[in-house]
Amino acid sequence: MSKAGPSFTCTACGASHRKWQGRCEACGAWNSIVEEAPLSAGPKALGGKGKTVALSDLSGIEAPPPRVGSGMEELDRVLGGGLVPASAVLVGGDPGIGKSTLLLQAAASFARKGLNCLYISGEEASAQVRMRAQRLGLADAPVRLGAETNLRDILTTLDAERPGLAIIDSIQTMWLDTVDSAPGSVSQVRAAAHELVTFAKRRGVAVILVGHVTKDGQIAGPRVVEHMVDTVLYFEGERGHQFRILRAVKNRFGPADEIGVFEMTGVGLSQVTNPSALFLSERGQPNPGSAVFAGIEGTRPVLTEIQALVAPSPLGTPRRTVVGLDSGRLSTILAVLEARCGIPFAGLDVFLNVAGGMRVTEPAADLAVAAALLSAREDVAIPPETVLFGEISLSGALRPVGQTENRLKEAAKLGFSQAIAPSRSKAGAVEGMSVREMPDLTAFTGEIFGAG
Ligand code: TYD
Ligand code: MG
Repeated sequence: MSKAGPSFTCTACGASHRKWQGRCEACGAWNSIVEEAPLSAGPKALGGKGKTVALSDLSGIEAPPPRVGSGMEELDRVLGGGLVPASAVLVGGDPGIGKSTLLLQAAASFARKGLNCLYISGEEASAQVRMRAQRLGLADAPVRLGAETNLRDILTTLDAERPGLAIIDSIQTMWLDTVDSAPGSVSQVRAAAHELVTFAKRRGVAVILVGHVTKDGQIAGPRVVEHMVDTVLYFEGERGHQFRILRAVKNRFGPADEIGVFEMTGVGLSQVTNPSALFLSERGQPNPGSAVFAGIEGTRPVLTEIQALVAPSPLGTPRRTVVGLDSGRLSTILAVLEARCGIPFAGLDVFLNVAGGMRVTEPAADLAVAAALLSAREDVAIPPETVLFGEISLSGALRPVGQTENRLKEAAKLGFSQAIAPSRSKAGAVEGMSVREMPDLTAFTGEIFGAG
């Protein structure tokens, strides 16, 4: 860097700018640029002064990383089979969603398994954390608590204690006295995360960082925190719903997209080992507008109910309201229904919802979405005991999706007897399930709703 003036960084994409702007030129985000203290002067020129790096080839035999299980099955699965020592994990989520509760319970579980755990809270006093632990019935777990925000003191403590796991709640409250800006600012968050992650690697201490997420779903502070850590987990859920989903969005030690399902109760989070049963539990008699989607979340099949409501719109531009699904996907499906099957939705308000606060991202949900929309529009219930899955292409054809057999088995386990799937789904016979394969959306609407 030639001159040390203030610099401006986009919190959405991490691009740096010379001056403040309302819109980041790099990624197009509005209002995402913040001022940052200059980085301390780095080495001026790199030239021939370093030492040679030891190189190896790809064929060496490396033992898989040893893992420590917490005994909380839902958490261990999301971590890829347990916590990897000396790894760094970021747990993001909206304020109040239950991150501190989850991590206190996790700390207690790990500690009971013999892992030396430190829980450092920068948000609550130790007494508050203790009170919560008592309420959750965790007071006897050998977790040690600290309330501190000064990272220099925290690192000194960690260095002296050498725990197996340190939980830092939250990264936004931590500050370094070497960085000249307020706690929670981009530079502080980045520097604090960097210090903690390097400490984790160097000293063999696993760290879990808690990060608050901004309204638009980004971990406040630069995305670089996500790049620094090995594993990024999001703790999410709809307000007003008891269900909480811990989702791996990045994992260097396991599959991403794995989910763990929890329920927030009066005494903390309890694990939900059969989420399909939970998401379908509110379902009564089959109603028009309801379709059951047999989905896959990570390595696990999960059934969810997709609900649609279609009503004449008093507005010039009808409403399209979506909860739990991508709104772009809804527009595409509506367009395909209109263009390929001749079923218009113009002049109709469309509301679409995934029951139970679940968020569905798989394209395999297309067919269930189309079924719910058609069922609501035609006021015809989908045959009971039926699950659906399949991707819809722009031509209106149905495309087969992966893991058909897992989807069918899960549906059979929950008492469903029929599946509607794309042709060529390669469905192996699953006991108790009959599969009706359809080549395209027109065949589907004709057969199920007698519409066209
Ligand atoms: P918390 O873990 O403090 O959220 P975060 O750390 O993500 O900000 O959880 C806060 C919410 O959880 C609070 O609104 C109350 C609720 N809660 C329960 O319903 N039951 C409980 O046993 C606990 C501890 C919290
Ligand atoms: Mg908290």
